[in-house]
Amino acid sequence: MRAVIVVESIWGNTELIGTEIAAGLGGDLTELVDAASAPADLGDLDLLVVGGPTHAFSMSTATTRESAKQQGAETIPPRGIREWIEAQRSPSRAIPVATFDTRVVSPRLPGSAAKKAMKRLVALGYRPVARPETFGVHGYTGPVADGELARARRWGTDLSKIVADG
Ligand SMILES: Cc1cc2nc3c(=O)[nH]c(=O)nc-3n(C[C@H](O)[C@H](O)[C@H](O)COP(=O)(O)O)c2cc1C
Repeated sequence: MRAVIVVESIWGNTELIGTEIAAGLGGDLTELVDAASAPADLGDLDLLVVGGPTHAFSMSTATTRESAKQQGAETIPPRGIREWIEAQRSPSRAIPVATFDTRVVSPRLPGSAAKKAMKRLVALGYRPVARPETFGVHGYTGPVADGELARARRWGTDLSKIVADG
């Protein structure tokens, strides 16, 4: 199974979740790539997973990433999953897709980057294989909330079974 996880992360929390999802997916052909440097064309895939932090109830923008600097972030990615999705063309077949995000556990706010990302990917012609998933972090900078890394790994394993079962 060839799976690619496209991830955006400012403080590393979403990337850590992505690493666990990759481990749960298993296989030599699972790759984790940064949304800022991922090519727009990933070729044919058995599964695309896209994950990013929820910013202002949605996917990050240049403005929200800039305001992360005011929260102490040292390096800001020039592009996030929003821009990576915007660069996508419709796939030639309905490639299975799953999305995830990270959000603060408290206060629990509405809005999810994963839901927004899924909506756009489905509009392009990708086929959803799971509901958009959210993983909790403490505050803006993390760490990842208790139990979430293990849950991410299980989610990856569940995705690999869903895709293998067709
Ligand atoms: C500008 C900005 C806006 C944010 N807006 C939200 C939000 O609407 N809801 C939420 O739960 N978390 C929000 N957060 C917290 C992020 O979700 C959190 O920083 C992220 O999950 C950390 O992941 P990362 O280390 O991969 O960047 C926001 C963070 C920033 C910097």
